[in-house]
Amino acid sequence: MCGIVGILGKEDVAHDIVDALRRLEYRGYDSAGVATIVERGLQRRRAEGKLRNLEARLVEVPLGGKAGIGHTRWATHGKPTETNAHPHMSARVSVVHNGIIENFRELRDEMVAAGCQFESETDTETIVHLITHYLDAGKSHLEAVQETLQRLTGAFALGIIFADDDDLMIAARQGSPLAIGHGTGEVYLGSDAIALAPFTNKITYLDEGDYAVLRRETVEIYDRDGVRVERPKVQAVAGALTVDKGNHRHFMHKEIHEQPEVVSHTLAHYIDMSTHQVAIPDLGLDLAKVDRVTISACGTAYYAGLVAKYWIERYARVPVEIDVASEMRYREAPLADNGLAVFVSQSGETADTLATLRYCKENGQRIASIVNVRSSTIARESDAIMPILAGPEIGVASTKAFTCQLSALACLAIALGKARGQIDEALEQELVGALTEMPRHISSVVRTEADYLPLATELSKARDILYLGRGMSFPIAMEGALKLKEISYIHAEGYAAGELKHGPIALIDEKVPVIVIAPKDALFEKTISNMQEVAARGGRIVLVSDAPPEAFGAEVMHQVVMPTVHPFVSPIVSAIPIQLIAYHTAVFMGTDVDQPRNLAKSVTVE
Ligand code: F6R
Repeated sequence: MCGIVGILGKEDVAHDIVDALRRLEYRGYDSAGVATIVERGLQRRRAEGKLRNLEARLVEVPLGGKAGIGHTRWATHGKPTETNAHPHMSARVSVVHNGIIENFRELRDEMVAAGCQFESETDTETIVHLITHYLDAGKSHLEAVQETLQRLTGAFALGIIFADDDDLMIAARQGSPLAIGHGTGEVYLGSDAIALAPFTNKITYLDEGDYAVLRRETVEIYDRDGVRVERPKVQAVAGALTVDKGNHRHFMHKEIHEQPEVVSHTLAHYIDMSTHQVAIPDLGLDLAKVDRVTISACGTAYYAGLVAKYWIERYARVPVEIDVASEMRYREAPLADNGLAVFVSQSGETADTLATLRYCKENGQRIASIVNVRSSTIARESDAIMPILAGPEIGVASTKAFTCQLSALACLAIALGKARGQIDEALEQELVGALTEMPRHISSVVRTEADYLPLATELSKARDILYLGRGMSFPIAMEGALKLKEISYIHAEGYAAGELKHGPIALIDEKVPVIVIAPKDALFEKTISNMQEVAARGGRIVLVSDAPPEAFGAEVMHQVVMPTVHPFVSPIVSAIPIQLIAYHTAVFMGTDVDQPRNLAKSVTVE
């Protein structure tokens, strides 16, 4: 999603702004721009496409100025053209904006009626005209922004500079995160702390509804009621600020390889390794009395939740309702008394997940969230958080966050099962033992990476690929299809293996590879029967399994040989081959693996 950077500096800032924007590239964007205050007023440079185009523009036509704002835009209102790129400006004010102004049409009509000329199709330009309108009416900078904020409906983060004051930047946060960085005689603004890492590690996060007046020597923060407030200055964790590919070609590759380590960290957070007992944080309710669990999330995080449904229902015997957040937020689903609602989100900023969280909160649910970013909005609005310790995930396609989410959810399922008397000590030891062995198994799969290259070459020729799985392997099949389509752009679908003959089998011919995830568990024979149905119709099978070849009874094009693991953890270990298949297929096809087209890392709009 869009990125914001602002600097009130001692030297010219355009170059530093672009550098900081580069650290936000992972969020996804399709145009970029920077505006500064120079003697003759506000100046800006903007360009379609990647930051290198903006840099080239800045080389052609350099931009001075010791105060400025920059933006990477992920188009929502209007095409990703230079005219629609931020910053937007009038002669008096320049604005960068993340999020969506929902009532922009009526505001725009009002401004047009008042004689304003709009040059872009964006909702953001409305903000520029509103602020200018209030300044022209004699309001101060702060008053003009305050009046404007009161007119805006939607979720947004704003960075604003003014032509006539080069020691002033105003920031506002409503629904989209913003962080202020404190330097020495300099101050910074960023849509996340990663952007500010080269400048400072002293960070203040704005709260929901806050706005702030930044000057080089002072920062004043006001809450949504206009009351001056103090927000803590925190030391950003070093790990959160390292954005480095190391020796890896892509962040996604690095993140796949980090999984044994980050999964261990996450498990160690929820398991007492000396007693092999699970100890999750107090969720503020008696787990023994939880009658129903509601889970909601989007995309990959949703698939993690879907695996958790199998775990919780099977091991804790608690019914689980799960839905993608974009549906659940509007479904008006009735929720149980004494219910626990669990939200899974890497970024902690996903708009639909957040809206569903608020719905569940209003309807009396206890809110627990599984998040990677502890300072995120979802984390802050939850009654309890279960952090994952994945570290910053930069590749747009989620990998290590997924396996860490699963690790935390597995611990939650065990804790629920224990509390409800469904998991005794022996079973807890067995399941925890399986979890603690998992990083080693993940490592062993990652080490077989070279085997994926011929397979990836073969798969890259396909137009469509099916993924099949049963039980807990079904969500992994869907996750496999999502991973492949988002980074290789090959069409892929994940199905429950048993659903095949209810329709999808019509697609099978020798051109459609079918990736079957079939660990040797209680459902293995059933899945293999479905696989044989595919083979009988000429389908080319890629089998992801620990079973020996004589167990298949059908010819397979390729077997990804898996380690034998406890069925409880097999969905987590099976996530690794599907990530490697997607990654190597995409690399072979030469796509932009870390920043796939049209995608954003943090989806802060509906
Ligand atoms: C896919 C992917 C997305 C995210 C989804 C939710 O690889 O990364 O499907 O899982 O956008 O994002 P978070 O977890 O940040 O709420």
